[in-house]
Amino acid sequence: MDSLDLKGASQCIKEDELVIFPTETVYGIGANALSAKAVSKIYEAKERPKDNPVIVHISDSDQLNKVISDISDIQEKLIKEFWPGPLTVIFEKSENIPDIVTAGANTVAVRMPSHGIAHELIDISGVPIAAPSANISGKVSPTHHEDIDEVLKDRVCQVLEAGRCDYGVESTVVKVEDNKVFILRPGAITKGDIKTKLGVDVEYSEEYKNNENKVMSPGVGFKHYSPDTKIVLVPVETYKKAVEDLLADDKSVGVIGTELMLDKIENKEGIEKISLGIDGDFEMNASKIFSALNRLDKLEVDIGVVHTFEERGIGRAIMDRLKRAVG
Ligand code: TXA
Ligand code: MG
Repeated sequence: MDSLDLKGASQCIKEDELVIFPTETVYGIGANALSAKAVSKIYEAKERPKDNPVIVHISDSDQLNKVISDISDIQEKLIKEFWPGPLTVIFEKSENIPDIVTAGANTVAVRMPSHGIAHELIDISGVPIAAPSANISGKVSPTHHEDIDEVLKDRVCQVLEAGRCDYGVESTVVKVEDNKVFILRPGAITKGDIKTKLGVDVEYSEEYKNNENKVMSPGVGFKHYSPDTKIVLVPVETYKKAVEDLLADDKSVGVIGTELMLDKIENKEGIEKISLGIDGDFEMNASKIFSALNRLDKLEVDIGVVHTFEERGIGRAIMDRLKRAVG
């Protein structure tokens, strides 16, 4: 079968079946967002808890109007600045969106991907596509078609294979409240990016205790990104020593880090190095994290070691994913 059969894939979507497709962030597993039956298949295939809502992907403003019931000035500005691209915005949902998409909430998460194939798939399917990341729930998100789980592939109608995803880290999820932008999930677009473009207050929701002290994004509470291999996250200062201690303990170690940090580790038997790219290039480092975690599992070492990153800019998203990968 053609690995880029867009017409076939859109036929699957039209028939309420599943398609795995590339986006600029990670691969998604998608279904017709207007069909409860189609979306329920996503939850089954991923083994995803039903109380974790999914993102609706659109390709034009007509579709946006179809899935939301209201839009504020700040939301409009966010869209104007960052769409198409890796920003997911929470809106009041319209009645066209079945409850299963939003886990019963009256809000819906929407984004317009910039990836050409994602865009075209939505376009020719003629419906918005609900899609979480294309991994079994709790596992690492695939950023290359070679990293997509074979079991998951067998559960879908079609897989669109298109190599590596540019950002390699999921979209930033934001919600507007009290004229402020809250970041529910740090991602490819940073707090600084939003602040600079919009000139409004931007806060991380976890640092903001609202009146009811509720979690604003359900997915944030779930176990995530766990490789099968045990992995530890250690401060930059103790990275080298942590690796040496494990080796002394007769462990084989998958050492994940920037080039600069890897250079500090002696090449010895029992060590496998996995590079996250140039030190200081956070965008590059972020884009390589999920592929590094996938690689770790393929190496069959006893344990993985990764160092911390400074939590500024996209470093925030890097640390969010790493902390959750180590559990
Ligand atoms: O980059 C991405 O966003 C990728 C690609 C495929 O687009 N998708 C993705 O989906 O990461 P998923 O399901 O792995 O993450 C969706 C996140 C979860 O944290 C979920 O809780 C949150 O978005 N979310 C979805 N609907 C929401 C809603 N109505 N209110 C608050 N958070 C919501
Ligand atoms: Mg996910």
